[in-house]
Parts: sequence; C-alpha cells; structure tokens
Amino acid sequence: MPVFSIHVNNQKHSVDVDADTPILWVLRDNLNLVGTKYGCGIAQCGACTVHVDGNAMRSCTLPISSLGDKKITTIEGLSSDLTHPLQKAWKEYDVPQCGYCQAGQIMSAAALLKSNPSPSDEEIEANMYGNLCRCGTYNRIKKAIKSAAE
Ligand code: FES
Ligand code: FES
Repeated sequence: MPVFSIHVNNQKHSVDVDADTPILWVLRDNLNLVGTKYGCGIAQCGACTVHVDGNAMRSCTLPISSLGDKKITTIEGLSSDLTHPLQKAWKEYDVPQCGYCQAGQIMSAAALLKSNPSPSDEEIEANMYGNLCRCGTYNRIKKAIKSAAE
C-alpha cells in the first residue's frame, strides 16, 4: 500500500492505506481521532465534517489521495482547551442530546463563522442545511451559533 503524508491538527502523520481510503477512516482508524463520526457514508448527513484548508468538507467521501498537502482540522483540533466561541456557546445552550451529530455541526458552524463572522438567520440555516440531527437540536444549534457570533 502507498504511504501518504497528511497534516492533521498541526501535526504531520504518515499513513499506510489504500489510495481510495476516505479521510474519515484514516482519522478514526489510523490516527485514533474518533470525534469525527460516521453517519451515512455518502455525504448526506454531515456527521463526518472536518475542515480542509479551513473549508467544511465531508470526510466520508474524500479519498486520501485527493488531499495533497492540504491541512485538516478535526473537532479535536478546533481549540486546545475547549475555548472556541462555539464550544462555549454549545455548553451555554446545552445543545447536544445524544451528541452523535454534534462534532459535524460544530465544524460546519466554525467554517461559517470564519468566512462570515456575523451571519443572518437565513445564512445560518443555509450553511447548516446539510448537517442532520436525528434528535432535532436545530433550534439550540442556531441559538448557539448566533451567540458565538456575538
Ligand atoms: S457520514 Fe459523511 S456525510 Fe454522512
Ligand atoms: S444530538 Fe443526537 S443526532 Fe444530533
């Protein structure tokens, strides 16, 4: 198998995997970064969202061979001490229920606030549209994003 060099959460790693291995499984199985979750495997639920060079991407359909020297950030790398404004707001609004979708929700929201620090309700809804939550925490997610933006 080929060896790929990848840059995750400001650290370089070498992994020995098939070229078509989705980044999700490299993160979870090779690097033990299990905060990024598997939901649908077909880029439809958002549970596996990570940042690739700062953009929110679905890691379940992103083969490692497509990455080149792009930098990945996972939920574990969003902040070193849980002080990202979204992490604080998520606590304040007690957003998670079962928690399964929440890493993906936060990573999508973080990419939004980076590109648009003061999003409108409509912009939040449009950005978060592809992140599903079977527990229906959407209202708290929206409140937390608005609070973090402030
Ligand atoms: S697991 Fe990747 S979008 Fe659902
Ligand atoms: S908190 Fe349970 S799926 Fe979103």
